[in-house]
Amino acid sequence: MPPVARFAEVDFSLHEVSRLTPALAATLGQGFRCKRGEFGTFWRRGRIVREEQALISRCWIIESEGYLAGYITLLTDKLELEQPPLASEGVQYRTMPAVKIGLLAADGRARGAGRRLVEWALEYAAVELVPKVGVRFMTVDAFYDLDPDSAGVYYDASGFYARLGFNFVNPDEPLPPQQSYRTMYFDLKPLVEALQETAAS
Ligand SMILES: CC(C)(COP(=O)(O)OP(=O)(O)OC[C@H]1O[C@@H](n2cnc3c(N)ncnc32)[C@H](O)[C@@H]1OP(=O)(O)O)[C@@H](O)C(=O)NCCC(=O)NCCS
Repeated sequence: MPPVARFAEVDFSLHEVSRLTPALAATLGQGFRCKRGEFGTFWRRGRIVREEQALISRCWIIESEGYLAGYITLLTDKLELEQPPLASEGVQYRTMPAVKIGLLAADGRARGAGRRLVEWALEYAAVELVPKVGVRFMTVDAFYDLDPDSAGVYYDASGFYARLGFNFVNPDEPLPPQQSYRTMYFDLKPLVEALQETAAS
């Protein structure tokens, strides 16, 4: 029988997400294949561990049978919008406390791992962070840049986040954007309320 390809038989939709430990950082990552190669390089060259040690981000991973399927980092952020987003709730600030997805990468063979990591992060923020610190939104700077692997073709990660319910901070910005990304945000409050309702029923 031919060997089964890595991750071919894994359902990542509810897969366990684990906190990165020094032991996992040292042992995982062999053969990690992301469609943007720099995310493999970040891992191999120790960027994630350095940022953890500096307390500037926290990393969680999905692994299967000793192989890294994906990772996500979270850090604090502030969301700045043209109009106060919570005016209807009597809050007039244009700047809002947020938690940010810093790095997100999935092995291209691990279908569903990216979605799982983001959905997990949203639930983690709603359940674990919201009760402890004022935080209303999750943000991300979604890559929108020239694909290093295809000359003249833009790589756009924003569609991935849009499918998961993120909105654009500047939906009308001319494309390609001035920076190499588009900032997006997700309102945690409806998720918090839905989770509370589920817990109560
Ligand atoms: C972005 C990334 C994490 C998505 O992870 P993934 O495991 O490929 O995504 P999933 O398999 O969970 O896909 C979830 C859905 O999003 C869709 N999707 C994935 N990338 C997409 C994109 N760039 N635009 C629109 N939709 C996208 C998938 O087709 C899938 O749709 P479905 O639910 O209808 O089947 C992964 O492609 C990656 O590591 N990319 C390189 C690094 C990167 O861009 N990181 C984000 C930087 S902000």
